[in-house]
Amino acid sequence: MSLCFSSNMFTLHSPKFQSYKTRFSSQFINQIQVPSLSCYLSSSPLNLSLPFKFSKQRFNPITASIATVEATQSSFRSKNPKDINILVVGSTGYIGNFVVKELVNRGFNVIAIAREKSGIRGRNSKEETLNQLQGANVCFSDVTNLDSLEKSVNDLGVSIDVVVSCLASRSGGVKDSWKIDYEATKYSLIAGKNHGAQHFVLLSAICVQKPLLEFQRAKLKFEAELMKEAEEDNGFTYSIVRPTAFFKSLGGQVELVKDGKPYVMFGDGKLCACKPISEADLASFIADCVLSEDKVNQVLPIGGPGKALTPLEQGEMLFRLLGKEPNFLKVPIGIMDFAIGILDFLVKIFPSMEDAAEFGKIGRYYAAESMLILDPETGEYSAEKTPSYGKDTLEEFFERVLREGMAGQELGEQTIF
Ligand SMILES: NC(=O)c1ccc[n+]([C@@H]2O[C@H](COP(=O)([O-])OP(=O)(O)OC[C@H]3O[C@@H](n4cnc5c(N)ncnc54)[C@H](OP(=O)(O)O)[C@@H]3O)[C@@H](O)[C@H]2O)c1
Repeated sequence: MSLCFSSNMFTLHSPKFQSYKTRFSSQFINQIQVPSLSCYLSSSPLNLSLPFKFSKQRFNPITASIATVEATQSSFRSKNPKDINILVVGSTGYIGNFVVKELVNRGFNVIAIAREKSGIRGRNSKEETLNQLQGANVCFSDVTNLDSLEKSVNDLGVSIDVVVSCLASRSGGVKDSWKIDYEATKYSLIAGKNHGAQHFVLLSAICVQKPLLEFQRAKLKFEAELMKEAEEDNGFTYSIVRPTAFFKSLGGQVELVKDGKPYVMFGDGKLCACKPISEADLASFIADCVLSEDKVNQVLPIGGPGKALTPLEQGEMLFRLLGKEPNFLKVPIGIMDFAIGILDFLVKIFPSMEDAAEFGKIGRYYAAESMLILDPETGEYSAEKTPSYGKDTLEEFFERVLREGMAGQELGEQTIF
């Protein structure tokens, strides 16, 4: 069932939140007015202090019965999950979707922000999105426009306790990275704080430790501003989650190898390693960050269970599962450096090739950099120092893909993530 409402129900006038807004407004607020956006409730209603019934008609503004922002300020961690409102942005992504499911399963009130056409290349309709985000209150809005996002959250008529951001550029291109990994994520912080949010959980990436790519710089800039925000506001906290490689990023060759193609790797296949984590395990870790005191104001690198695996070991695992003799195609990493050199040269003549050059650099980065804790002193990656979480193994994932294919595990619009 889905219901639609757009009445302006609850406005915050706390001086603290107003001053926060003012502080950022010169930098961020887009003056263009946008039309009112609708919010849909895919199943459960938002939790308010007094129960109310939804009908298929638009309902009237509710003001008196809603828990005020001030009332929630000191209390969100001691509240029952059903009384905690969590705003999730990036809810329709690979990880965001699992995060929504996990939070719903844990009994939180989830408000999932989504685009009217969501998913890779916008292939999911509103109905499909509502279906995908069952159990959450789905709010169709635009995270790239602060006015629009603020209005949508305002129209919900409830205060927000926690914001969880799983936003990420779908392309990894230069401008899009700044627009999403920095700016839109920042807008979700502003909108969340303006509506009472006391905690922000950010899905980042372990690779920001060695920032050579634009999306890493964009993420780091937001991380720094988030930490500063918590420093300046005693009542506000964060958890920054920096995972290692996702399963989907390592599954791209499974079906090719099954079809008899060689497993392609750079150098000797030992240039890098990672501790892959499943989407369900990562979603569980992210959900832990909502209430766990030990994750407050922490940067949390996280990998999956088991030892770190090089591409060579991943390939060997795959051939073992298939019962085939290993067949590797070893590509010299210098080929990528050559291609990047050409692309960098071409960008100087054709600036529009900026993203193509960036994609080359992204490919080069993941071919040689480990997704493990980096010791800044020695420049060495350490598998031992990279924490493990969860139970799903890459081997089980490969077995599943061999059986069922990569459905649901498609990469984004770019080729790497
Ligand atoms: N791949 C890896 O191995 C790996 C490892 C560690 C960390 N990470 C990090 O994990 C994060 C999330 O990855 P993911 O795979 O879950 O991302 P994803 O599937 O690409 O999802 C991105 C989310 O952001 C939203 N979004 C993107 N552009 C938008 C726009 N212009 N307007 C509104 N919403 C927009 C998407 O909405 P739509 O559905 O509407 O497009 C989607 O909900 C990334 O930051 C990545 O760096 C990845």
